[in-house]
Amino acid sequence: MPLLRPFVRTAVLLCLLLLLLSFGNAQSNKHPWMNTSLSADERASMVVKEMTLDEKISLLHGTGMVGLSPMSPLAIHSNGGAGYTVGIPRLGIPAIQMSDAAYGVRMSGENGRYSTALPSCVAGAASWDLQGGFEYGALIGRELRAQGYNMSLGGGVNLTREPRNGRTFEYMGEDPVLAGKMVASVIRGEQAQHVLGDIKHYALNDQESGRNAVNVNIDQRAARESDLLAFEIGIQESDPAAVMCSYNRVNGTYACENKYLLTDVLKKDWNFHGFVVTDWGGAHSTEKASAAGMDQEQPGWIFYGDALKKAVESGKVPQPEVDDHVHRILRSMFATGVVDNPQEKSVVDVAGGLEVARKLEENSIVLLKNDGAQLPLDNSKVHSIAVIGPHADVGMISGGGSAQVDPPGGNAILPPGKGQTRWLEPVWFPTSPLKSVRSKAAGATVQFDSGADPSSAATLAKNSDVAIVFAYQWESEDMDLPSLSLPEHQDDLIAKVAAANPHTIVVLETGGPVTIPWAGQVSSILEAWYAGSAGSDAVANVLFGNVNPSGKLPLTFPRSDADLPHPQIVKPGADSKPDPSSTEPWKQIAAGLKAFQVHYDEGVKVGYKWYDAESKPVLFPFGFGLSYTTYSYSNLRVTAGKMPHVVFTVTNTGNRGGAEIAEVYASLPSSASEPPKRLVGWSKVHLKPGESKEVTVDVDPKYLSIYSTDQHGWQLIPGEYGFMVGGSSQDLPLKELVSLN
Ligand code: BGC
Repeated sequence: MPLLRPFVRTAVLLCLLLLLLSFGNAQSNKHPWMNTSLSADERASMVVKEMTLDEKISLLHGTGMVGLSPMSPLAIHSNGGAGYTVGIPRLGIPAIQMSDAAYGVRMSGENGRYSTALPSCVAGAASWDLQGGFEYGALIGRELRAQGYNMSLGGGVNLTREPRNGRTFEYMGEDPVLAGKMVASVIRGEQAQHVLGDIKHYALNDQESGRNAVNVNIDQRAARESDLLAFEIGIQESDPAAVMCSYNRVNGTYACENKYLLTDVLKKDWNFHGFVVTDWGGAHSTEKASAAGMDQEQPGWIFYGDALKKAVESGKVPQPEVDDHVHRILRSMFATGVVDNPQEKSVVDVAGGLEVARKLEENSIVLLKNDGAQLPLDNSKVHSIAVIGPHADVGMISGGGSAQVDPPGGNAILPPGKGQTRWLEPVWFPTSPLKSVRSKAAGATVQFDSGADPSSAATLAKNSDVAIVFAYQWESEDMDLPSLSLPEHQDDLIAKVAAANPHTIVVLETGGPVTIPWAGQVSSILEAWYAGSAGSDAVANVLFGNVNPSGKLPLTFPRSDADLPHPQIVKPGADSKPDPSSTEPWKQIAAGLKAFQVHYDEGVKVGYKWYDAESKPVLFPFGFGLSYTTYSYSNLRVTAGKMPHVVFTVTNTGNRGGAEIAEVYASLPSSASEPPKRLVGWSKVHLKPGESKEVTVDVDPKYLSIYSTDQHGWQLIPGEYGFMVGGSSQDLPLKELVSLN
């Protein structure tokens, strides 16, 4: 008998294999496009041929959202996210279940689910860590699938042209190369989990005020070299399934029916293969939008339902145009694997998510000031600590709007069970700075004061060895900040605490830059951004030296609002807003609100390029961030050629291990008429104390080029290029001039 066993095993295995093969064959016989050896395009073309016009139209729109469009009875099959497009079971095509997922999966609370909140997207960019970006996206992808979704609506990459934009926390900073590469790494991480990825809001939706009515005026070259370049890099490096067109108009035409943006640039120049989905309620026409290249309307079907069907039947919208819209959606579904690997609901890995969130935040915190090596705190010397700041006993602030992730147990500042998240209401995540500091400060007395009464906070600070103030600035979609100042008199609170105790450390929880009038009075400043589910532990690990900070600013901290390219945000007049008495404002938005004008005359001079060109001093420059160790740079060599190589050495000259973000900038020949310098590459280098490493950064020639509107393409201007290397945009000790042609 024992002799027979191997034969039996082999026979069973063979039978199983045959069964599997015949099942596979049956599948591909029934649906030949299920053959995974075919390309996504081939598979999509085969499906399109089988579809009726009604089936095609059904893929090109959503099924409604309360307050934004009519509701379809089919919406009951939605998974509870922001968008749902029906599947075609007859052809084996699954539904698209979409969820917002900027820094975690949205709407988990109202659906009785759990999501991890990662540090905000701008925090992710502050890590300058592409592998970290991939892990960021992969976590979102896993949690989307576990919750029953197969499409992310994250991927925000609008440049921080206007830092008071209420969505600055959702984007990736002010530099197109950094932002483009970071968003690509997040989207790659998502799509690796078989989730349709999205990049948004295309394009130039750089302020929230009057977003449905604003007309952005900008010249073509400036647009291509700034905001559009971030999208170009993001798309080329991640092949996202979708691009979300924005609410605003660009040079006179709504982005979602703008042929220049959608067809000439996106689909032709950049060779984008995926589909263009509207922002929610961003569609304004049928024929014009279809001809311009808009593929899918969300969340309803005002223009791409019956109206599109009629337009096709009457020949106003050509059949091949509709087939192309459908093809793009199907192709993306095959390419990302959502057809072959349908999502299965499961329990989210909470502990694993917290670990990822903590590590990403530790990688993103930026140390802005550290006089007298106040940090890291030394437990043997610090015996009493004052933790001060609004709600620093219970939580940390998070970013709002459609990016909002719901905190477990509800908003930390509300009683348990009363913690729903509401539009335009700040949400505090239950990650307690007070508890985290206490857990690290063995043997020290740690006391709390909310700062509501600055003199009581100052008294506590005076009686403590060290004061740590947690200061916040809240941002959300659907609003812009009134100014870059901290709200709620926090500047006054910090000044009073610092006057009482020179050992004052400020931890900023902000979505972007703030003005810091007390910068000279405190010993240390940490930028923690919106720190996510495990934020307070990550901050405490940096405060006490378990982690050496390595983040660098992805955006400039200016000295004042007056130094910005636009000291005031242009606001819409009453006639550019929906009638406040209307019960269905979406109808007025769809019909088109009266435009008001914003002129981006600063053009390509976004962020540091503006301050450099205008010789305006700043508070903390782009690319800046300190460490508990120090680094030196030496031995620069630049090899000219098609892809210039920049080689240099970085040395850790201190006595702690750390990671240095080594930045490479270039100046162009003066005939190019460009700002003094631009970021062209970087490398995050991990170094032990005393260790040196040779670093090579290959520079993509596009990053050295200008966009020529005459030649409709990128052009390298022959001449002398300066390559500058160092640890911040304003600390570049190495420089070499090289002729390129
Ligand atoms: C936002 C988008 C979001 C959509 C769906 C819109 O208000 O601008 O970013 O994806 O809503 O929630």
